[in-house]
Amino acid sequence: MKSIEKEPDAPIKKEGFTTGFAVFFATLGSAVGLGNIWKFPYLIGANGGGAFLIVYLFCIIFACMPVMVCELFIGRKTRSNAVQAFEKLKVKPFWKSIGFMGIIAAFLIMSFYSCVAGWVYLYIFKAIKGDFAGISAQSAAAQFSKASVGIISPILWQIIVIAVVSAVIIAGVQKGIERVTKTLMPILFILIIICDIRSLTLSGASQGLDFLFRIDFSKLTAQGILVALGLGFFKLSLGMGTMLTYGSYYTDDNNLIGTSAKVAVSDTIVSILAGVAIFPAVFTFGMGPDNGPGLLFMTIPLVFSKIPFGNVLLVAFFFLTAIAATTAMISMMEVPVAYLNESKKIPRKKAVLSVAVIIMLIGILASLSADGASLLGGAKVFGLTFFNLFDFVSSNILMPLGGFLILIVVGWFLSKKDFEYELSNKGSINTKTAADMLYLVIKYVTPVLLIIVFLNTLGIIRLS
Ligand code: PHE
Repeated sequence: MKSIEKEPDAPIKKEGFTTGFAVFFATLGSAVGLGNIWKFPYLIGANGGGAFLIVYLFCIIFACMPVMVCELFIGRKTRSNAVQAFEKLKVKPFWKSIGFMGIIAAFLIMSFYSCVAGWVYLYIFKAIKGDFAGISAQSAAAQFSKASVGIISPILWQIIVIAVVSAVIIAGVQKGIERVTKTLMPILFILIIICDIRSLTLSGASQGLDFLFRIDFSKLTAQGILVALGLGFFKLSLGMGTMLTYGSYYTDDNNLIGTSAKVAVSDTIVSILAGVAIFPAVFTFGMGPDNGPGLLFMTIPLVFSKIPFGNVLLVAFFFLTAIAATTAMISMMEVPVAYLNESKKIPRKKAVLSVAVIIMLIGILASLSADGASLLGGAKVFGLTFFNLFDFVSSNILMPLGGFLILIVVGWFLSKKDFEYELSNKGSINTKTAADMLYLVIKYVTPVLLIIVFLNTLGIIRLS
């Protein structure tokens, strides 16, 4: 009998995105997430509105976009996951630590992210059930602490989120990630515009917009600059291997600089649209713009409960937030999954399941110590709850540090020619001037900026 023999060493054909359209939506799906709708509004609220927005835009242009191009460049050139990429680049083994650090960051982020995403999923059901009809500011706060504090409910919802994300990833890059992001991102956009129109017709609209866009630098602190930088990295999913992994699925003819710019601009627009949906409401109903992480969960139900067809809008709003959270989490989970699958040859399904179990275990720590919950006896590490610690370590340390190392490897250890060749899609488009300028920024400007911000955080220098 003739047996069909498998060649053991035949390279497995790597799956990738099919079109430029798919590349754009998948990348935007990673960027747009809870960062836009949950983090951005409360951070802007806590750091003084418009002035913070300007610093944030500055960070996006001079620190985040260069890192994004570097990650996409490494990913597409090597067509490998975050660890293997550095093996293929033939640089010293040290640089592989960028990949490992990225995997650790991915787990830390997923643990608190899945917790917040769990509250969002729960809020869709609460809204459908009509739980928010006629609520007041106090009962909105009470409902939020009920949702976030118990033991069973938050963990259960967190597990549901992890299961949904796992199912998409198991389906693969094209049938899972590509299909889901291409369908859901346009829906998200339409829903957010509808919410904006409603919010802008509220009586507190001008106060809300004034808060969001008025530039008052006196409210900005040095800490605020670090926060803006961390937010930029978090928003564009940088410094932890996500963009590198997605870059490895990019089509050969994709313009990497163009896609980075389009994604950064679209993502910032979504953040601003989310702010425009939230702040007029905050002022209309007399809540504080600095209500912290619970802002979204306390204000939005309150606002929509007060207006005609509010409940439909409320369901829509939490549904769009759930879309954002899910597509972003898909891209985080893909980092360890791609590594286990490609480097360790673990079948995709098994890789996803193992990653899911680890997230659940660490995620429980985040869930039990989240906003208002003190089930771990208020345990603190370095003065922070687990939830805040995971957030702080990933956004303010690991991601900027990962980004810094990526800039250094591209600017100082890889050849400029390779960089330009890849960005020009092997000579088929003319990107020479843009690539030249970008290279200078990558080599000198952004690393220096990051060092200044770091030294300031450590208290070695004082920015203000
Ligand atoms: N960019 C996502 C957001 O804003 C978060 C994210 C971080 C996604 C890191 C992937 C990797 O919510």
